[in-house]
Amino acid sequence: MEKTIDEKIQGSTLVLGDKTLNSRKLYIESYGCAMNFSDSEIVASILTNEGFNTTQNLAEADLVLVNTCSIRDKAEQTIRKRLTEYNAVKKTRPHMKVGVLGCMAERLKDKLLDEEKIVDMVVGPDAYKDLPNLIKEVDDGRDAVNVILSKEETYGDIAPVRLNSNGVTAFVSITRGCDNMCTFCVVPFTRGRERSRDPQSILAEVNELWEKGFREITLLGQNVDSYLWYGGGLKKGFEKASEMQKATAVNFSQLLELVAKTQPKMRIRFSTSNPQDMTLDVIRTMAKYDNICKHIHLPVQSGSNRILKEMNRLHTIEEYFELIDNIRKILPDCSISQDIITGFPTETEEDHKATLKALEYVKYDFGYMYAYSERPGTMAARKMKDDVPEPVKKRRLSEIITLQREHCQYRTEQHLGKVQEVLIEGSSKKSTEDWMGRNSQSTVVVFPKENYKIGDLVNVEVYDCTSATLIGKAIRYSNNN
Ligand code: SAH
Ligand code: F3S
Repeated sequence: MEKTIDEKIQGSTLVLGDKTLNSRKLYIESYGCAMNFSDSEIVASILTNEGFNTTQNLAEADLVLVNTCSIRDKAEQTIRKRLTEYNAVKKTRPHMKVGVLGCMAERLKDKLLDEEKIVDMVVGPDAYKDLPNLIKEVDDGRDAVNVILSKEETYGDIAPVRLNSNGVTAFVSITRGCDNMCTFCVVPFTRGRERSRDPQSILAEVNELWEKGFREITLLGQNVDSYLWYGGGLKKGFEKASEMQKATAVNFSQLLELVAKTQPKMRIRFSTSNPQDMTLDVIRTMAKYDNICKHIHLPVQSGSNRILKEMNRLHTIEEYFELIDNIRKILPDCSISQDIITGFPTETEEDHKATLKALEYVKYDFGYMYAYSERPGTMAARKMKDDVPEPVKKRRLSEIITLQREHCQYRTEQHLGKVQEVLIEGSSKKSTEDWMGRNSQSTVVVFPKENYKIGDLVNVEVYDCTSATLIGKAIRYSNNN
């Protein structure tokens, strides 16, 4: 039915008898980790059921939701700047509402409303099902807040609406929260206790993704190795579970096997692994199934045992190396990537050298490296002084990045002359004549498009490389569907 201009301008609810035709437009922006991007798809699903349509055009948005990250101060500063920009837009479009989701919402709570007055709504990561009610409050002219953390919520019953999707790769969340309490990390405070999602709902989502044409999934959790399903609730309650619950419990390696078997042609990745929880069973399961990609993201944070202890990482560097040795033995072709923090409180030159030594030992395929950023409320912030001067943190960081870059080059060169199985994700950023995809090890591969299409799994012979990209040519159609 055609709307009047007035209704179009209002852009809000149009009531027809007892039927509500809602034409509101939702604009979601996500920052930070993959879990946030995955959560935004859950939020989009909840609000699509409420009659919202998602838009990528800010100019037509009635509701702007910003899914935020608190992991480092810089992330928060970037988001604050963005919120100020939205606030400026609101001056010309007063009906547009702005909500903050995710970790900053949980960390700062109603401070964002009271002191800073830059948003209309604050919603923590476990409260997204309450969004319809909160939006009603905002519509009625009140600020709305829900930052209650849950011990059960996994959103397992919600089918995510895929946002900005290439139609080929998707995230599937398997756990929420984290119980690890690394002393530098804000996540346990912003995302709450760790809980696992029902395997049946995970399998149902994977099956649906396959039906829709998706060809690769990444199972997501802050710490996937501690996945444990015995009927719901906190993992810590497992000791009290009944014999029956214990007998039918599913751990991460079993879940991985279930997913791999259920969709034998779906490529499977997972992130993130925690060295203290990763078992040999997980590595053996990876070896058993061709469709499980051979890449492990295994954050090390530091090479110094003293610093690892201060960080409350519950392993030594020797134990970490032993795990690396086992991965190399069982999965010789597996790529390994890292996260490292430089300049954690009390870090000495000797500790820093130990981190460089760890890099040399593993020669990671790639990595994510950060200067320590003190996060209010964490154990490190409460108990330790942020005493490594900024220039020292930066210099150590740049030494680590330089060494890592050499290793990236070394690792990509190992693929030269070899044939790689590549899943096509889209056009290469540099040339519309080329496809971009990834091999099993998650290295980016580009090659001429010829007659191939997005979603094809193609054998590509690699003849050149940069430190991060393999360059090749398709040699034959390998398989599809
Ligand atoms: N287990 C999580 C880790 C989340 S944080 C996962 O799924 O990836 C990602 C990385 O950010 C951490 O591994 C750590 O290297 C870095 N990080 C976390 N807190 C930090 C801080 N306060 N300062 C600098 N880097 C930090
Ligand atoms: Fe953070 Fe350590 Fe958990 S890095 S997310 S507390 S595993």
